Amino acid sequence: MNLYEIKNLVKVYGEKENKVHALNGVSINIPRGKFVVVLGASGSGKSTLLNILGGMDTPTEGEIFFDGENISKHTQSKLTKFRKENIGYVFQSYNLLPNLTALENVEFSTEIGKLPKDGAKNALTMVGLFERKDHYPAELSGGEQQRISIARAIAKKPKVLLCDEPTGALDYKTGIMILNVLCDINKKQSTSIILITHSQDIAKIADVVIKMRSGKIIDVFENPAPQSPNEVEW
Ligand SMILES: Nc1ncnc2c1ncn2[C@@H]1O[C@H](COP(=O)(O)OP(=O)(O)OP(=O)(O)O)[C@@H](O)[C@H]1O
Ligand SMILES: [Mg+2]
Repeated sequence: MNLYEIKNLVKVYGEKENKVHALNGVSINIPRGKFVVVLGASGSGKSTLLNILGGMDTPTEGEIFFDGENISKHTQSKLTKFRKENIGYVFQSYNLLPNLTALENVEFSTEIGKLPKDGAKNALTMVGLFERKDHYPAELSGGEQQRISIARAIAKKPKVLLCDEPTGALDYKTGIMILNVLCDINKKQSTSIILITHSQDIAKIADVVIKMRSGKIIDVFENPAPQSPNEVEW
């Protein structure tokens, strides 16, 4: 079974003359276990699609099945449960809580629910920052903060990790490091990854690329030979 099966998703924001069609009939099946990149220009509907995939927003029309479960008609409380059980989210801005240490940020996220024993520590090890567990966000670099936010997202072992421009705020070298961490998680923990970017070059690391324009999918293709982040330049 596919991870996602999406049928004719439409998302309209606003009313009357202020209406914006952020998604205009998006249909696609997304296989599990893959590194999927969603590529498109600003305003093409990437974040809107990701938010609906993650149960953070609901479509105006259309259906979305996750692991066979139709989440498009879920109530808010059902969606919250769905997110806690299945979804890890990484944003461009790391959204760490300044008064909590790295370890506490990973342990106490409201989106996490119950963690497996040592889940937070294992996640920090996975992103290479276990030694920094007692440091506060202000004591960490941007790339390190993003790695903590990735640890927070993977600590509960989500089925899918949704990443909205996770390297957007980082310099080139740090961005490569983050992409390496994400590839590692995809390979070692078989976590499905869906990552948004506007960079054609970052898309070269993907197993599958979904191209969007004006709220529509204009192309989907598999990379015959995905590159390692170390080979990519942008
Ligand atoms: N809450 C909202 N209310 C009204 N319009 C919105 C809202 N969120 C998004 N939009 C509009 O929907 C369209 C798609 O937005 P979206 O954020 O999905 O694009 P994006 O591809 O993620 O762009 P970017 O690369 O700049 O992040 C845009 O025209 C945007 O202005
Ligand atoms: Mg966006």
